[in-house]
Amino acid sequence: MAKFYILVGPPGAGKGTQAVIIAEKCGIPHISSGNIFRENLQNETELGKKAKAFMEKGELVPDDITIGMVTDRLSQPDCEQGSLLDGFPRTPAQAEALSAFLEQHGKKINAVPLIDVPSDELIERLSGRWTCKAEGHVYHPKFKPPKKEGFCDLDDSELYQREDDKRETVEQRIRVYNQQTAPLIEYYEKKGLLRKIDGSQKIEDVTSDLLKVVEC
Ligand code: AP5
Ligand code: MG
Repeated sequence: MAKFYILVGPPGAGKGTQAVIIAEKCGIPHISSGNIFRENLQNETELGKKAKAFMEKGELVPDDITIGMVTDRLSQPDCEQGSLLDGFPRTPAQAEALSAFLEQHGKKINAVPLIDVPSDELIERLSGRWTCKAEGHVYHPKFKPPKKEGFCDLDDSELYQREDDKRETVEQRIRVYNQQTAPLIEYYEKKGLLRKIDGSQKIEDVTSDLLKVVEC
């Protein structure tokens, strides 16, 4: 049976960090809407051009663009057995569209782990984050230093600092999360799918809590 999981949590909670580990362990694709947007930005596609201004301001890309992009990705054959969604859905309209899409294909969401981290920790994490150019793998000099400074452990590509990790943009992203995405917590709680995880623990402890929820 196909299994779909959604990682919810504020910017910097560790969604991307955990998704890479869990997806690898469970053999399901990691689908990060943020990574897909950044690939499109790098390749200067039409989609990238549409998303750019929103991302730079720390605002959400409009629902119609985002929903089409993610459902296209979910329609690819490697998602037949499920996937681990990171950063999507982020609004009630996206959540409704995802449920409708899965239902149409005879599939459903298995669980929604919420990675919970207090706001003051998020700023420290994001201001020190380094991201790999090839696949978006993330590092931090204090919390997850790469083996070779400036390069990704997994694919040896160069590390860079995301434009939207500037302090004012991070603060705006946290505000946007609280206003537009946090309502999804109650939405999934009511459906009995929400599983709260303490995201302020060490990376490996968060992983082991997540693996109690995500069945491989
Ligand atoms: P997106 O790329 O999704 O960014 P985000 O949600 O703001 O989340 P982040 O990637 O910043 O954080 P994360 O939780 O993945 O943390 P990470 O693991 O990297 O979205 C970017 C933009 O794209 C949006 O602003 C929007 O414009 C657009 N967009 C994307 N999806 C959209 C959608 N659905 N709708 C509309 N627009 C959309 O970790 C952060 C740092 O902390 C790293 O340095 C890491 O090493 C460190 N760290 C991780 N875990 C721990 C730990 N346990 N302890 C200490 N440090 C840790
Ligand atoms: Mg991320």
